[in-house]
Amino acid sequence: MFSHRFGNAPEALNPQWRARLSLEAAGARILDMTLANPTLAGIPYPEGIPALLNRPSVLRYRPSPRGKPETRAAIAAYYASRGPEVSAEDLILTASTSEAYAFLFKLLCDPGDEILIPIPGYPLFDALADLEHVKLVRYPLRRDTRWRADFGFLRSLVSTRCKALILVNPNNPTGHLADASEIRAYLDFAAEYGLALIVDEVFRDYLLGDRAFLPVASSGPLVFTLNGFSKMLGLPQLKLGWIHVGGAREAVQAALGHLEWIADAFLSVNTPVQDAAGDLLKLDRAVQTAILARLRANLATAERLAAESQCMRILRPEAGWYLVLDLRLDEEDESLAQELIETGRVYVYPGHLFGFEEGCRLVISLLGPETEFSEGLGRISALAAARAQSPRGAAPRQSADKD
Ligand SMILES: Cc1ncc(COP(=O)(O)O)c(C=O)c1O
Repeated sequence: MFSHRFGNAPEALNPQWRARLSLEAAGARILDMTLANPTLAGIPYPEGIPALLNRPSVLRYRPSPRGKPETRAAIAAYYASRGPEVSAEDLILTASTSEAYAFLFKLLCDPGDEILIPIPGYPLFDALADLEHVKLVRYPLRRDTRWRADFGFLRSLVSTRCKALILVNPNNPTGHLADASEIRAYLDFAAEYGLALIVDEVFRDYLLGDRAFLPVASSGPLVFTLNGFSKMLGLPQLKLGWIHVGGAREAVQAALGHLEWIADAFLSVNTPVQDAAGDLLKLDRAVQTAILARLRANLATAERLAAESQCMRILRPEAGWYLVLDLRLDEEDESLAQELIETGRVYVYPGHLFGFEEGCRLVISLLGPETEFSEGLGRISALAAARAQSPRGAAPRQSADKD
Protein backbone atom coordinates (compact mmCIF):
# COMPACT_ATOMS: atom_id res chain seq x y z
CA MET A 1 0.00 0.00 0.00
CA PHE A 2 2.86 2.40 0.70
CA SER A 3 5.29 3.80 -1.85
CA HIS A 4 8.81 2.51 -2.44
CA ARG A 5 10.31 5.61 -0.87
CA PHE A 6 10.79 3.71 2.35
CA GLY A 7 12.81 0.88 0.79
CA ASN A 8 16.05 1.75 2.54
CA ALA A 9 14.61 3.19 5.73
CA PRO A 10 16.02 1.37 8.75
CA GLU A 11 13.40 -0.89 10.31
CA ALA A 12 14.58 -0.39 13.84
CA LEU A 13 16.34 2.21 15.92
CA ASN A 14 20.10 1.87 15.88
CA PRO A 15 21.43 -0.15 18.85
CA GLN A 16 23.21 2.75 20.54
CA TRP A 17 20.09 4.88 20.42
CA ARG A 18 18.02 2.00 21.78
CA ALA A 19 20.47 1.51 24.65
CA ARG A 20 20.42 5.23 25.34
CA LEU A 21 16.62 5.34 25.52
CA SER A 22 16.39 2.45 27.94
CA LEU A 23 19.20 3.79 30.14
CA GLU A 24 17.57 7.21 30.27
CA ALA A 25 14.21 5.62 31.06
CA ALA A 26 15.92 3.92 34.00
CA GLY A 27 17.20 7.30 35.19
CA ALA A 28 20.82 7.09 34.00
CA ARG A 29 22.64 10.31 33.11
CA ILE A 30 23.96 10.06 29.58
CA LEU A 31 26.63 12.36 28.20
CA ASP A 32 25.45 13.19 24.70
CA MET A 33 28.55 13.78 22.61
CA THR A 34 26.43 14.23 19.48
CA LEU A 35 24.50 17.30 20.66
CA ALA A 36 24.40 19.60 17.64
CA ASN A 37 21.27 21.55 18.48
CA PRO A 38 22.61 24.98 19.47
CA THR A 39 19.37 25.92 21.24
CA LEU A 40 19.91 23.07 23.74
CA ALA A 41 23.64 23.57 24.21
CA GLY A 42 23.65 26.56 26.53
CA ILE A 43 24.88 28.98 23.87
CA PRO A 44 24.35 32.57 25.05
CA TYR A 45 22.10 34.14 22.42
CA PRO A 46 21.77 37.91 22.10
CA GLU A 47 18.68 39.25 23.82
CA GLY A 48 15.63 40.37 21.89
CA ILE A 49 15.20 37.54 19.38
CA PRO A 50 11.60 36.70 20.45
CA ALA A 51 10.64 40.38 20.17
CA LEU A 52 11.92 40.51 16.59
CA LEU A 53 9.36 37.89 15.60
CA ASN A 54 6.50 39.72 17.21
CA ARG A 55 5.36 42.31 14.69
CA PRO A 56 1.96 43.28 13.29
CA SER A 57 2.93 42.16 9.79
CA VAL A 58 2.90 38.51 10.89
CA LEU A 59 -0.90 38.67 10.76
CA ARG A 60 -0.89 39.32 7.02
CA TYR A 61 -0.39 36.49 4.56
CA ARG A 62 0.90 37.63 1.19
CA PRO A 63 2.81 34.61 -0.09
CA SER A 64 5.60 35.03 -2.55
CA PRO A 65 6.86 31.69 -3.96
CA ARG A 66 10.50 32.76 -4.28
CA GLY A 67 10.39 34.36 -0.84
CA LYS A 68 9.65 37.98 0.06
CA PRO A 69 11.82 40.42 -1.93
CA GLU A 70 12.89 42.28 1.24
CA THR A 71 13.97 39.00 2.88
CA ARG A 72 15.99 38.03 -0.16
CA ALA A 73 17.52 41.52 -0.20
CA ALA A 74 18.57 41.10 3.45
CA ILE A 75 20.24 37.78 2.64
CA ALA A 76 21.96 39.34 -0.40
CA ALA A 77 23.26 42.10 1.94
CA TYR A 78 24.70 39.39 4.21
CA TYR A 79 26.63 37.94 1.27
CA ALA A 80 27.79 41.43 0.25
CA SER A 81 29.28 41.89 3.73
CA ARG A 82 31.20 38.59 3.52
CA GLY A 83 31.58 38.00 -0.21
CA PRO A 84 30.88 37.16 -2.87
CA GLU A 85 28.08 39.57 -3.77
CA VAL A 86 24.93 37.88 -4.98
CA SER A 87 21.73 39.23 -6.45
CA ALA A 88 18.52 38.92 -4.43
CA GLU A 89 16.90 37.92 -7.73
CA ASP A 90 18.95 34.72 -7.78
CA LEU A 91 17.78 33.50 -4.37
CA ILE A 92 14.90 31.12 -3.59
CA LEU A 93 13.86 30.77 0.04
CA THR A 94 13.09 27.39 1.58
CA ALA A 95 12.11 26.21 5.06
CA SER A 96 15.55 24.64 5.62
CA THR A 97 18.63 23.46 3.81
CA SER A 98 17.14 19.97 3.85
CA GLU A 99 14.12 21.27 1.97
CA ALA A 100 16.48 23.05 -0.43
CA TYR A 101 18.00 19.66 -1.28
CA ALA A 102 14.52 18.21 -1.81
CA PHE A 103 13.66 21.06 -4.21
CA LEU A 104 16.91 20.55 -6.12
CA PHE A 105 16.42 16.80 -6.41
CA LYS A 106 12.93 17.47 -7.84
CA LEU A 107 14.36 20.11 -10.17
CA LEU A 108 17.22 18.01 -11.54
CA CYS A 109 16.22 14.35 -11.31
CA ASP A 110 13.70 11.95 -12.72
CA PRO A 111 13.17 8.79 -10.66
CA GLY A 112 16.33 6.66 -10.88
CA ASP A 113 18.64 9.53 -11.82
CA GLU A 114 21.90 9.79 -9.93
CA ILE A 115 23.65 12.33 -7.76
CA LEU A 116 27.27 12.15 -6.64
CA ILE A 117 27.82 12.68 -2.92
CA PRO A 118 31.07 12.81 -0.92
CA ILE A 119 31.93 10.02 1.47
CA PRO A 120 32.64 10.43 4.36
CA GLY A 121 29.68 12.76 4.42
CA TYR A 122 26.39 13.95 5.78
CA PRO A 123 24.13 10.96 6.58
CA LEU A 124 20.80 12.68 5.84
CA PHE A 125 21.44 12.48 2.08
CA ASP A 126 20.15 8.90 2.03
CA ALA A 127 16.73 9.83 3.36
CA LEU A 128 16.47 12.94 1.20
CA ALA A 129 17.36 10.96 -1.92
CA ASP A 130 15.03 8.03 -1.13
CA LEU A 131 12.14 10.43 -0.73
CA GLU A 132 12.73 11.71 -4.28
CA HIS A 133 13.56 8.33 -5.85
CA VAL A 134 17.08 9.55 -6.51
CA LYS A 135 20.05 7.18 -6.50
CA LEU A 136 23.13 8.32 -4.63
CA VAL A 137 26.57 7.48 -5.98
CA ARG A 138 29.31 7.95 -3.40
CA TYR A 139 32.64 9.46 -4.36
CA PRO A 140 35.37 8.92 -1.79
CA LEU A 141 37.28 11.73 -0.19
CA ARG A 142 40.78 10.46 0.48
CA ARG A 143 43.01 11.80 3.18
CA ASP A 144 46.77 12.14 3.11
CA THR A 145 47.36 15.35 4.98
CA ARG A 146 44.00 16.79 3.84
CA TRP A 147 40.78 15.31 2.49
CA ARG A 148 40.47 15.44 -1.28
CA ALA A 149 38.27 14.07 -4.01
CA ASP A 150 40.07 11.87 -6.50
CA PHE A 151 38.78 13.29 -9.76
CA GLY A 152 40.30 10.46 -11.77
CA PHE A 153 38.18 7.99 -9.82
CA LEU A 154 35.19 10.31 -9.89
CA ARG A 155 35.19 10.03 -13.67
CA SER A 156 34.60 6.29 -13.43
CA LEU A 157 31.43 6.93 -11.40
CA VAL A 158 29.62 9.23 -13.82
CA SER A 159 26.85 7.49 -15.76
CA THR A 160 24.42 8.88 -18.30
CA ARG A 161 21.88 9.19 -15.48
CA CYS A 162 24.09 11.38 -13.35
CA LYS A 163 22.67 14.88 -12.88
CA ALA A 164 24.58 16.60 -10.13
CA LEU A 165 27.66 16.61 -7.96
CA ILE A 166 27.47 17.68 -4.32
CA LEU A 167 30.29 19.51 -2.56
CA VAL A 168 29.81 20.04 1.17
CA ASN A 169 32.16 22.91 1.98
CA PRO A 170 33.13 22.86 4.84
CA ASN A 171 32.53 19.13 4.92
CA ASN A 172 30.45 17.41 7.58
CA PRO A 173 31.96 15.52 9.37
CA THR A 174 35.62 15.95 8.33
CA GLY A 175 35.64 19.76 8.61
CA HIS A 176 37.65 19.98 5.40
CA LEU A 177 37.65 23.31 3.51
CA ALA A 178 38.02 23.21 -0.25
CA ASP A 179 40.92 25.28 -1.57
CA ALA A 180 40.97 27.27 -4.81
CA SER A 181 42.37 24.42 -6.90
CA GLU A 182 39.74 21.98 -5.64
CA ILE A 183 36.92 24.44 -6.31
CA ARG A 184 38.26 24.91 -9.85
CA ALA A 185 38.39 21.13 -10.27
CA TYR A 186 34.76 20.75 -9.15
CA LEU A 187 33.61 23.48 -11.54
CA ASP A 188 35.61 22.02 -14.45
CA PHE A 189 34.32 18.53 -13.72
CA ALA A 190 30.70 19.72 -13.58
CA ALA A 191 31.17 21.63 -16.84
CA GLU A 192 32.83 18.69 -18.59
CA TYR A 193 30.04 16.24 -17.71
CA GLY A 194 27.12 18.67 -17.93
CA LEU A 195 26.36 18.25 -14.21
CA ALA A 196 24.93 20.78 -11.82
CA LEU A 197 27.13 21.53 -8.81
CA ILE A 198 25.33 21.70 -5.45
CA VAL A 199 27.43 23.44 -2.81
CA ASP A 200 26.37 23.15 0.83
CA GLU A 201 27.95 26.01 2.77
CA VAL A 202 26.06 25.74 6.07
CA PHE A 203 29.27 25.71 8.12
CA ARG A 204 31.09 28.49 6.23
CA ASP A 205 31.07 30.88 9.20
CA TYR A 206 32.68 28.42 11.62
CA LEU A 207 36.40 28.42 10.84
CA LEU A 208 38.60 26.63 13.35
CA GLY A 209 42.07 27.07 11.88
CA ASP A 210 44.07 29.45 9.71
CA ARG A 211 42.49 28.49 6.44
CA ALA A 212 39.97 30.87 4.87
CA PHE A 213 36.62 29.85 3.47
CA LEU A 214 36.45 30.23 -0.31
CA PRO A 215 33.05 30.57 -1.96
CA VAL A 216 32.25 28.95 -5.32
CA ALA A 217 31.39 31.42 -8.07
CA SER A 218 30.43 30.24 -11.52
CA SER A 219 29.80 31.78 -14.89
CA GLY A 220 29.64 28.33 -16.46
CA PRO A 221 27.94 25.27 -14.95
CA LEU A 222 24.83 25.70 -12.85
CA VAL A 223 25.86 26.09 -9.22
CA PHE A 224 23.27 25.86 -6.45
CA THR A 225 24.61 27.21 -3.17
CA LEU A 226 22.75 26.32 0.03
CA ASN A 227 22.70 27.90 3.45
CA GLY A 228 20.23 28.87 6.16
CA PHE A 229 19.60 30.19 9.66
CA SER A 230 19.96 26.75 11.22
CA LYS A 231 23.75 27.01 11.36
CA MET A 232 24.44 30.59 10.23
CA LEU A 233 22.47 32.08 13.15
CA GLY A 234 22.18 28.95 15.31
CA LEU A 235 18.39 29.17 14.92
CA PRO A 236 17.17 25.89 13.38
CA GLN A 237 13.70 26.36 14.88
CA LEU A 238 13.02 29.46 12.76
CA LYS A 239 13.03 27.36 9.59
CA LEU A 240 14.67 29.55 6.97
CA GLY A 241 17.05 28.31 4.33
CA TRP A 242 17.81 29.27 0.75
CA ILE A 243 19.25 28.35 -2.60
CA HIS A 244 21.41 30.74 -4.58
CA VAL A 245 21.51 29.92 -8.28
CA GLY A 246 24.66 30.82 -10.21
CA GLY A 247 26.06 30.05 -13.65
CA ALA A 248 25.31 30.96 -17.26
CA ARG A 249 22.45 33.49 -17.27
CA GLU A 250 19.96 31.63 -19.45
CA ALA A 251 20.28 28.41 -17.44
CA VAL A 252 20.01 30.35 -14.17
CA GLN A 253 16.75 31.97 -15.30
CA ALA A 254 15.30 28.62 -16.35
CA ALA A 255 16.31 27.00 -13.04
CA LEU A 256 14.84 29.88 -11.03
CA GLY A 257 11.57 29.59 -12.95
CA HIS A 258 11.26 25.88 -12.18
CA LEU A 259 12.29 26.33 -8.56
CA GLU A 260 9.63 29.02 -8.19
CA TRP A 261 7.08 26.56 -9.51
CA ILE A 262 8.16 23.92 -6.97
CA ALA A 263 8.16 26.46 -4.13
CA ASP A 264 4.71 27.69 -5.17
CA ALA A 265 3.32 24.19 -4.66
CA PHE A 266 4.33 24.28 -0.98
CA LEU A 267 4.76 27.93 0.11
CA SER A 268 6.55 26.48 3.10
CA VAL A 269 8.50 29.48 4.37
CA ASN A 270 6.74 31.16 7.27
CA THR A 271 5.96 34.88 7.34
CA PRO A 272 7.32 35.77 10.82
CA VAL A 273 10.86 34.64 9.99
CA GLN A 274 10.79 36.38 6.63
CA ASP A 275 9.71 39.65 8.23
CA ALA A 276 12.35 39.39 10.95
CA ALA A 277 15.18 38.12 8.73
CA GLY A 278 16.83 41.52 8.15
CA ASP A 279 17.04 42.22 11.89
CA LEU A 280 18.00 38.64 12.75
CA LEU A 281 20.89 38.78 10.31
CA LYS A 282 22.31 41.76 12.22
CA LEU A 283 22.92 39.32 15.10
CA ASP A 284 25.20 37.13 13.00
CA ARG A 285 28.51 38.14 14.57
CA ALA A 286 27.17 37.87 18.12
CA VAL A 287 25.77 34.36 17.62
CA GLN A 288 28.72 33.12 15.61
CA THR A 289 31.22 34.48 18.15
CA ALA A 290 29.42 32.62 20.96
CA ILE A 291 29.24 29.37 18.97
CA LEU A 292 32.86 29.67 17.81
CA ALA A 293 34.03 30.18 21.39
CA ARG A 294 32.33 26.90 22.32
CA LEU A 295 33.71 25.00 19.33
CA ARG A 296 37.25 26.26 19.93
CA ALA A 297 37.19 25.54 23.66
CA ASN A 298 36.03 21.96 23.05
CA LEU A 299 38.53 21.49 20.24
CA ALA A 300 41.33 22.63 22.58
CA THR A 301 40.15 20.08 25.17
CA ALA A 302 40.12 17.38 22.51
CA GLU A 303 43.63 18.29 21.39
CA ARG A 304 44.88 18.11 24.96
CA LEU A 305 43.24 14.75 25.69
CA ALA A 306 44.44 13.30 22.39
CA ALA A 307 48.00 14.44 23.12
CA GLU A 308 47.85 12.64 26.48
CA SER A 309 46.40 9.46 25.00
CA GLN A 310 48.27 6.50 23.49
CA CYS A 311 45.36 5.40 21.35
CA MET A 312 43.05 8.36 20.69
CA ARG A 313 43.84 10.85 17.96
CA ILE A 314 41.69 13.57 16.49
CA LEU A 315 41.40 14.36 12.79
CA ARG A 316 41.62 18.10 13.21
CA PRO A 317 38.76 19.92 11.45
CA GLU A 318 39.37 23.16 9.57
CA ALA A 319 35.79 24.27 10.14
CA GLY A 320 32.34 23.17 11.26
CA TRP A 321 30.70 21.69 14.32
CA TYR A 322 31.98 18.11 14.21
CA LEU A 323 35.08 16.22 15.25
CA VAL A 324 36.29 12.82 14.04
CA LEU A 325 38.09 10.69 16.61
CA ASP A 326 40.55 8.11 15.36
CA LEU A 327 40.87 5.29 17.88
CA ARG A 328 43.92 3.16 17.34
CA LEU A 329 42.23 -0.04 18.33
CA ASP A 330 41.69 -3.25 16.47
CA GLU A 331 37.98 -2.97 16.95
CA GLU A 332 34.77 -2.14 15.12
CA ASP A 333 33.51 1.41 15.62
CA GLU A 334 30.04 -0.03 16.20
CA SER A 335 31.06 -2.23 19.14
CA LEU A 336 33.10 0.58 20.69
CA ALA A 337 30.12 2.96 20.42
CA GLN A 338 27.93 0.30 22.00
CA GLU A 339 30.29 -0.23 24.89
CA LEU A 340 30.59 3.52 25.37
CA ILE A 341 26.86 3.86 25.86
CA GLU A 342 26.40 0.71 27.91
CA THR A 343 29.31 1.01 30.29
CA GLY A 344 30.56 4.57 29.83
CA ARG A 345 27.12 6.24 29.55
CA VAL A 346 28.49 8.26 26.62
CA TYR A 347 26.56 8.56 23.37
CA VAL A 348 28.63 8.92 20.17
CA TYR A 349 28.18 8.21 16.47
CA PRO A 350 30.10 5.25 15.05
CA GLY A 351 32.08 6.48 12.04
CA HIS A 352 30.42 4.10 9.59
CA LEU A 353 27.22 6.20 9.84
CA PHE A 354 29.18 8.89 7.98
CA GLY A 355 30.79 6.41 5.62
CA PHE A 356 34.15 5.85 7.30
CA GLU A 357 35.31 2.43 6.22
CA GLU A 358 38.83 2.24 7.60
CA GLY A 359 40.05 2.26 11.17
CA CYS A 360 37.96 2.74 14.26
CA ARG A 361 36.44 6.20 13.98
CA LEU A 362 33.85 7.95 16.09
CA VAL A 363 32.12 11.22 15.24
CA ILE A 364 31.22 13.69 17.95
CA SER A 365 29.87 17.23 18.06
CA LEU A 366 31.99 20.14 19.30
CA LEU A 367 28.91 22.09 20.35
CA GLY A 368 28.08 20.54 23.71
CA PRO A 369 28.60 22.32 27.04
CA GLU A 370 32.30 22.40 27.90
CA THR A 371 32.27 20.47 31.18
CA GLU A 372 30.19 17.69 29.66
CA PHE A 373 32.34 17.59 26.56
CA SER A 374 35.47 17.26 28.64
CA GLU A 375 33.94 14.58 30.89
CA GLY A 376 32.57 12.61 27.93
CA LEU A 377 35.78 12.73 25.95
CA GLY A 378 37.72 11.76 29.06
CA ARG A 379 35.54 8.65 29.34
CA ILE A 380 36.06 7.82 25.66
CA SER A 381 39.81 8.14 26.08
CA ALA A 382 39.79 6.02 29.25
CA LEU A 383 37.68 3.29 27.68
CA ALA A 384 39.91 3.26 24.60
CA ALA A 385 42.99 2.91 26.82
CA ALA A 386 41.37 0.03 28.69
CA ARG A 387 40.42 -1.63 25.43
CA ALA A 388 43.95 -1.30 24.09
CA GLN A 389 45.23 -3.26 27.08
CA SER A 390 42.43 -5.75 27.54
CA PRO A 391 42.53 -9.18 25.88
CA ARG A 392 39.63 -8.17 23.63
CA GLY A 393 41.59 -5.20 22.31
CA ALA A 394 44.84 -5.42 20.43
CA ALA A 395 48.01 -3.42 20.72
CA PRO A 396 47.51 0.08 19.34
CA ARG A 397 48.07 -0.11 15.64
CA GLN A 398 49.06 2.45 13.09
CA SER A 399 46.03 4.28 11.79
CA ALA A 400 45.36 4.44 8.07
CA ASP A 401 45.92 8.19 8.38
CA LYS A 402 49.05 10.22 8.57
CA ASP A 403 48.81 13.09 10.96
C1 LIG B 1 26.12 19.64 5.97
C2 LIG B 1 24.72 19.93 6.41
N1 LIG B 1 23.84 20.39 5.51
C3 LIG B 1 22.57 20.67 5.86
C4 LIG B 1 22.12 20.49 7.15
C5 LIG B 1 20.68 20.75 7.46
O1 LIG B 1 20.40 22.05 7.73
P1 LIG B 1 18.89 22.51 7.97
O2 LIG B 1 18.68 22.50 9.44
O3 LIG B 1 18.86 23.89 7.38
O4 LIG B 1 18.00 21.57 7.24
C6 LIG B 1 23.00 20.00 8.11
C7 LIG B 1 22.53 19.79 9.48
O5 LIG B 1 23.23 19.28 10.34
C8 LIG B 1 24.32 19.71 7.73
O6 LIG B 1 25.21 19.21 8.62
